[in-house]
Amino acid sequence: MASSAAGCVVIVGSGVIGRSWAMLFASGGFQVKLYDIEQQQIRNALENISGCPNIQEAVEGAMHIQECVPEDLELKKKIFAQLDSIIDDRVILSSSTSCLMPSKLFAGLVHVKQCIVAHPVNPPYYIPLVELVPHPETAPTTVDRTHALMKKIGQCPMRVQKEVAGFVLNRLQYAIISEAWRLVEEGIVSPSDLDLVMSEGLGMRYAFIGPLETMHLNAEGMLSYCDRYSEGIKHVLQTFGPIPEFSRATAEKVNQDMCMKVPDDPEHLAARRQWRDECLMRLAKLKSQVQPQ
Ligand code: NAI
Repeated sequence: MASSAAGCVVIVGSGVIGRSWAMLFASGGFQVKLYDIEQQQIRNALENISGCPNIQEAVEGAMHIQECVPEDLELKKKIFAQLDSIIDDRVILSSSTSCLMPSKLFAGLVHVKQCIVAHPVNPPYYIPLVELVPHPETAPTTVDRTHALMKKIGQCPMRVQKEVAGFVLNRLQYAIISEAWRLVEEGIVSPSDLDLVMSEGLGMRYAFIGPLETMHLNAEGMLSYCDRYSEGIKHVLQTFGPIPEFSRATAEKVNQDMCMKVPDDPEHLAARRQWRDECLMRLAKLKSQVQPQ
């Protein structure tokens, strides 16, 4: 296979996330090879990218391997052990896992210094964030190289300095889900009004600035914000309750409200996802226009 000047990237697992990575790397000028145990998965993904049913051949000449097989620790460990035995000292072994810890995924690998988690957000071509999470023995050059590679294909990498359950994005997301669930369960707000608070309120600014910069701008800088508001925030935080049970009764109540807007049959869900992706595409375009590069 001819290799491009940028280098060759191998995608292991060509499902939803593997295909998205393939498109991103291909549009970044990289030669991309897809490996999957399901031939049909490769055929479906193969419009501009080449497929390979043999892992040894697939990784030959690669500078980066992005693993995208299902979220199953034993399966991923098996794949990494296999890759570990056939790669050289230069290629980076990267996992797309959403929540498996690098210390578990890469434990005992000879090439552990070359291993890293690069966790994308779905759909990756409209939501550019990639969380980079190292194993305690990952070499700093592996983090730097992966960071540079992600930037090169138009993604927005960020470094998680130490592994933690849920990494950073899901910890923030779960904190929001937890309080959203409690507010609905306690009858303080309806499910659809709760969602409005995010889509018409917090989310409007969070697409451009994060919670810490929001604090900084909402007073005369961070120190002034803390002087003015930290006692009030602590007072409210003390009223937060324990982790919700996600009871069936509340799930049914939320589901009923959600289904009034989007019935939960495959057609309606697919149409709403498509609408969401179109909105994200427009937002991404707007952000590229308003933010200096
Ligand atoms: P998926 O189920 O759509 O695709 C998995 C693919 O792996 C399938 O094509 C399957 O045939 C292939 N596969 C299974 N065993 C294999 C093996 N031994 N060797 C090679 N290929 C194999 O899964 P999806 O959604 O693409 O997720 C992949 C990873 O990405 C997971 O770790 C997931 O947590 C992570 N992720 C998923 C996100 C999502 O929203 N779907 C978002 C961020 C990360």
